[in-house]
Amino acid sequence: MAKRLLNNKLRLSDFPEEIDNENGIKIYGDTSYENQMAVLSQFLHNGNTDISRDEIVAAILDFLEYKKEQNPNTGIEDSYEYASMVAENPIQYSLFNDFFDVPFPNPQEGKHTLIDLFAGIGGIRLPFNELGYKCVFSSEWDKFAQKTYFANFGEMPFGDITQESTKRFIPQKFDLLLAGFPCQAFSIMGKRQGFADTRGTLFFDVATILERHRPQAILLENVKQLTTHDHNRTFQTILRILDELGYKVKWQVLNALDFGLPQKRERVIIVGFLSQNRIEAFNFDFEKQPYSLTGLLESDEIVDTSLFASEKILQKREKQTEGKKIFYPSIWHENKAGNVSVLDYACALRTGASYNYLLVNGRRRPSSRELLRLQGFPDNYRIVVSHGEIRRQTGNSVAVPMIRKIAQKIDYILNNID
Ligand SMILES: C[S@@+](CC[C@H](N)C(=O)[O-])C[C@H]1O[C@@H](n2cnc3c(N)ncnc32)[C@H](O)[C@@H]1O
Repeated sequence: MAKRLLNNKLRLSDFPEEIDNENGIKIYGDTSYENQMAVLSQFLHNGNTDISRDEIVAAILDFLEYKKEQNPNTGIEDSYEYASMVAENPIQYSLFNDFFDVPFPNPQEGKHTLIDLFAGIGGIRLPFNELGYKCVFSSEWDKFAQKTYFANFGEMPFGDITQESTKRFIPQKFDLLLAGFPCQAFSIMGKRQGFADTRGTLFFDVATILERHRPQAILLENVKQLTTHDHNRTFQTILRILDELGYKVKWQVLNALDFGLPQKRERVIIVGFLSQNRIEAFNFDFEKQPYSLTGLLESDEIVDTSLFASEKILQKREKQTEGKKIFYPSIWHENKAGNVSVLDYACALRTGASYNYLLVNGRRRPSSRELLRLQGFPDNYRIVVSHGEIRRQTGNSVAVPMIRKIAQKIDYILNNID
């Protein structure tokens, strides 16, 4: 992007981008184009007055430059004067369709507000969107997850939540905090220092935000192993800190299989409220939903040929399943041929390796759409990144129907109990 001066000040994009290639994920810092888009998203959706006018104009200018680079013939002006004019009343310009013309638009006047931390591709947010909750801030530092999130919610998440430069965009008041935070080891110090005990972990950032903003309700999601990690100490510390912060919580390990998805995937869910009455009204009693693969699989004809298993794998499978009863449709684990009669659900979706063992009807790997359906994402959810990225993104995401059931209970409580 061209380097320019804005009001005699350097613009954010004049600084080098912070890119961390750890695990092959590019992480874009607060100086990136994505961050400019995040500023613009927040301004367009929430009219956030905490953002300085300079920052908004800079973000609009970056956006105009980007649009012009993409399509030089549209006559888009990318001058500072034009960007300042647009900033006065952006909605009157037809420049921002990408922010509104999406499958899951942010409700304009939400009855409740939320922030979406470690947002991934928005699996936790999606059911709250359906209930009319307005998202006022989101954070996700992976560029490709940001791209998927933007295409579906019209909002570019801010980047690294550990940075104050990111946290400063969180509005002071909101009702609900959502976070499927990555679990890291805590080094628990001798002295009990409250949430300072978790410094250096991402839970510390969640706790810091809770302390500063004190939303009415929280929904945290994590892998089941969090409950037993480090001889239960990690989980106990989390519960203790939430309690010290004034949150009364209930938690439970839930399985996607019980929420109508043909996928064994267990996750711990923590729900908390500031009010005692509210937590007393909450429970994890859900009626088990039957699961089925019917209607979930795409026909082989429309699936990309690159997803079909090699002749060698097919022969191995044939040998392993000889004389065994085989059910169709099924998703099997390549190395668990002996179990095919009972494996009428998919293996837990995980990022990377385990996907390579999943076989749909013994023939091919699951497609991007099937992976999204396995997590309960509706079919109008847009796919705008490579299949490899969808594998990673769905593996990191959540069983949407499971969150939907929890969201409905939280919503009932926020609306009916003080
Ligand atoms: C377990 S996933 C959550 C997925 C999400 N619940 C969904 O539905 O897709 C955790 C996410 O946190 C993101 N993440 C990790 N560290 C982060 C940080 N410091 N700032 C912002 N995002 C971060 C990762 O890129 C990953 O997408």
